[in-house]
Amino acid sequence: MRREAPDPSLAYRPNLEKNDNTDYRIFGGSRQSVSEEQHSSCKYFITMRVISIGPDPSLAYRPDLEKNENKVKEDYRNFETGSLIDRVFRTYKLMHTNQTLDFVKKKHYEWSGCSHSQMGIMDAVMSLDQVVDESDPDVDFPNSFHAFQTAEGIREAHPDKDWFHLVGLIHDVGKIMALWDEPQWAVVGDTFPVGCKYQNSVVFRDTTFLENPDDKDPRYNSEYGIYEPNCGLDKVLMSWGHDEYLYRVLKFNKCQIPEEGLYMIRFHSFYPWHTGGDYMHLCNDKDLSMMPWVQEFNKFDLYTKTTNMPDVDELKSYYQSLIDKYCPGILKW
Ligand SMILES: [Fe+2]
Ligand SMILES: [Fe+2]
Repeated sequence: MRREAPDPSLAYRPNLEKNDNTDYRIFGGSRQSVSEEQHSSCKYFITMRVISIGPDPSLAYRPDLEKNENKVKEDYRNFETGSLIDRVFRTYKLMHTNQTLDFVKKKHYEWSGCSHSQMGIMDAVMSLDQVVDESDPDVDFPNSFHAFQTAEGIREAHPDKDWFHLVGLIHDVGKIMALWDEPQWAVVGDTFPVGCKYQNSVVFRDTTFLENPDDKDPRYNSEYGIYEPNCGLDKVLMSWGHDEYLYRVLKFNKCQIPEEGLYMIRFHSFYPWHTGGDYMHLCNDKDLSMMPWVQEFNKFDLYTKTTNMPDVDELKSYYQSLIDKYCPGILKW
C-alpha cells in the first residue's frame, strides 16, 4: 500500500492541515494516523550507516535530487514493499528485544559521565554528515541536513524564539553515538519506558517484544511496573537513544536552553506518549504542561523533510550565534 507524503510546502506552513487524516506509515500492516507521524523524519532514521564523505564536503548536502524530482506523491513513504520494511522491522525487533531495564541502566552509566569526547555543538552537528539513515525510502542525505531543515522551519514559524531554532538544529545530535559504535537500535527510533508494561501504541508491539525478558517479568510488565502513579517522566527510565543522551549532555554542560526546549529534546521520540496518548498514568502536571511544546516541535521534525536544500554555509553563522548564546564553547560528550 502506498501513502502520500506531506505537501512539501507544509514545511513552511506547519500549522495548516496537519491533521488531514491521511495515513502515512504502515508498520507491519497496522496503520497509524498522520498525527502519529509528526516525527517521521526522525523516526525514519532507524538504521544508519557511516559513510565516507569524499573530498568535496558539499556532497553531504547534495542528495539524489534528480531521483526525487521525478517522484510523485504516491511514490513517497512506501513502507510496505521492498526491503525497507524488513530493515525497519529488524531494527525494532533488536531494539524491543534488547532494551530492558538493566540495559538502559547500563547505558546511563556508560554515557551520562560525558567522557567520550569534547567538541563544540556545531562540530557535533556537522559530524552527522557521516550519519545517513538507510531506512529512509525517499532521500538519502546526512542527518546534518535534516538538522538545518528542521531549524529553518521553526525559525520561519517562530521567529521570536531563537532558542527554539537552536533546538531544531541540535535535536538529533545525540545520534553521534552511532559514530562511537553504539548500535543503531540503541540510538534511533521511537522511545518507550522500560520497567513497566509496553503499551499498545509502541510500533510492532505485538511482534517484537516476544524475546524481551522484561515483558514476561511480573516486576516489570504491569501497568505501573516499578513506578508510582503520576510519578513524572523525569523519574521514568526511557529506552536508550539519542533523545536522552543529548538531554544528559546539555545538562552536564549546564547549557542554558529553556526547559521547554530541553523537554522537546528529551521526549521528541516518545511517540507512544506525545502522539499515541499512552503512558499518561506516569505523567505529572509538568509533563502535561510541556506536552504541547513537544508536539509543536514534532510538526517541524516531520514537515520540513523536503528536497529543498538549505544553504548550510550561509546559515552557519546565525546558528553559531545561538550556540554561543545558549551552549557556548567546548562541551563534554
Ligand atoms: Fe530524533
Ligand atoms: Fe529529527
